[in-house]
Amino acid sequence: MESKKRVKISELLKKEAGMEVLVKGWVRTKRGNKNIAFVALNDGSTVNSIQIVFDMNKFTDDQLKGVNTGACIAVKGALVASVGSGQSVEIQADELEIYGSADPETYPLQKKGHSMEFLREIGHLRPRTNTFGCVFRIRHAMAFAIHKFFNDKGFFCLHTPIITASDAEGAGAMFQVTTLDLNNIPKNPDGSVNYSEDFFGKAASLTVSGQLEGELGALALGEIYTFGPTFRAENSNTPRHLSEFWMIEPEMAFYEIKENMDLAEEFIKYLVKYALENCADDLKFLNDMFDKELTERLKSVVNTEFVRLSYTEGVDILMKSGQKFEYPVSWGIDLQSEHERYLVEKHFKKPVILTDYPKEIKAFYMKQNDDGKTVRAMDVLFPKIGEIIGGSQREESLEKLEKRIQELNMGTESLWWYIETRRFGTAPHAGFGLGFERLLLFVTGMTNIRDVIPFPRAPKNAEF
Ligand code: 4AD
Ligand code: MG
Repeated sequence: MESKKRVKISELLKKEAGMEVLVKGWVRTKRGNKNIAFVALNDGSTVNSIQIVFDMNKFTDDQLKGVNTGACIAVKGALVASVGSGQSVEIQADELEIYGSADPETYPLQKKGHSMEFLREIGHLRPRTNTFGCVFRIRHAMAFAIHKFFNDKGFFCLHTPIITASDAEGAGAMFQVTTLDLNNIPKNPDGSVNYSEDFFGKAASLTVSGQLEGELGALALGEIYTFGPTFRAENSNTPRHLSEFWMIEPEMAFYEIKENMDLAEEFIKYLVKYALENCADDLKFLNDMFDKELTERLKSVVNTEFVRLSYTEGVDILMKSGQKFEYPVSWGIDLQSEHERYLVEKHFKKPVILTDYPKEIKAFYMKQNDDGKTVRAMDVLFPKIGEIIGGSQREESLEKLEKRIQELNMGTESLWWYIETRRFGTAPHAGFGLGFERLLLFVTGMTNIRDVIPFPRAPKNAEF
C-alpha cells in the first residue's frame, strides 16, 4: 500500500480516468448492498468527496465492517470514469487499509444536519464537517490574500508584541499577564500590588491592538501592516465579539484620512474578489446550504462604491428616520450595531464609511479637527455585520497629543516612547484595523463569530 504516493482529492478530481491511485481520508457516508458498496471519502483538501466503489467479490463483509462514517481509511485502486457519482471520476477499490474506525453508536457526527450550537460543543470534531471545512479553507485563503495584497503594494509585515505594558485603546479591558503567586501577592506599603517583583518588573497585559507599535514602524519604514491576535476582556456575549480575535492593522506615513479610506475600500474589495475567484466550491456550498444570497452579496460589494459621510450626517439621518431603536439616537452617542445596520441595510443599501466622530467616544491618538469637537476617525460599516473596520488619521502634533493624554488622565509613564515619535521627525500618518473574523462573517455568510475561528475564546468559554 505504502509504495505509492498519496494523491489529494482536490488533485484527483481534476485528473483523467485510467491511472492507479492511492487516497487517504475520512468516510463521510457508506451505502450499498451485498454485491457492491459506495463510500464517499473526504480528505479536507476540498469540499468535494470522491466516490469509492467496493466490489464485494474482492472484499469480505468483515473487511468493510469498519468502513463507517467517521472512519479513516486508505484505498488503492483504479481511477475510472464515473456515471452516477456527480463527479467525472471515481475509484474502483483494489486494496483497503483502515487506520482508525469510528463506532457508529458513539461517533458524534454520525448524522448530518447538526445545529451550529451542538457543533460548538464538539469543537474538536467540527472541522470534519463540510461546513467547517469550507469556513477554514476560506479563512486560510483570506489570510494568504491579505499578505499578498500588502506585499504587492510594497508594505512590510511588522510583528508587534503580544505582551505589552501599554493600553492602545484606553478602554481598560485587558487580560493581565503575570507570574506572581496569586495566593501570595507582593504589596506596596499603600496596599497596591508591587509589580516590581513581577516577571517584567511592571504590570503587563495581552495586547488589544498592535497599532501603537505599528506607528513606530510606519514612521520608519513608510508603509507597514500587522496581522496578529488581539485580546479583549470585555464581557460582550454577542455574535460579533470574541475575547481573542485576529486583526490586520496597516499604518502608513504621509496618508491623510482620504487615502486611508481609499486603501480600506480597495483592501476589502480585493479580499472579497479573491474569495469569489479562489474559493468558488466552498462559497457555493455555503451559499446553497445556509445563505442563498451570499454570492450575490459578495459580488455587489465588489462592484459598488462605498458611501462616505460624516458621523454628524449619519446621526441626522438616524434621527429623522422615524425608526424606533432600542438605544435612542442623539449627537454624541457611540453608535450601536442597530444604528450602523440601519444606515447600511435600510438607508443606503451599501457599505458606508462614517468619519469625524465626537472625540469623547474615540481613542486619544486620533487627529483632532479644527472644530474642537470631532476627530478624524473612520469606521467602515457593512451589511449584516456593522463595524468591520475602525481607523483614523493620527494626531501628529506633540502639543495636541500631550494635551489630550492629560485631559484623559492617562499618565505618560507607559506611553513615553509613543509620544517621542511626535518629538522627533513627526509626520502626518494614518491607519486602520480590520477585524479578521468580522471579515470572515461577511465572506462566509456565517451568523455567529464563534463559527469562523477554529477555537473561539469568549467569556466562560476556552474548552478546546
Ligand atoms: O475599532 P477597533 O477597536 O480599533 C482598533 O483597535 C484600532 N487600534 C485599529 C487601528 O486603527 N489600527 O478594532 C478594529 C476592528 C473593529 O472594527 C472590528 O472589526 C474588530 O477590530 N473588533 C473585534 N472583532 C471581534 N471581537 C471583538 N471583541 C472585536 N473588537 C473589535
Ligand atoms: Mg471601533
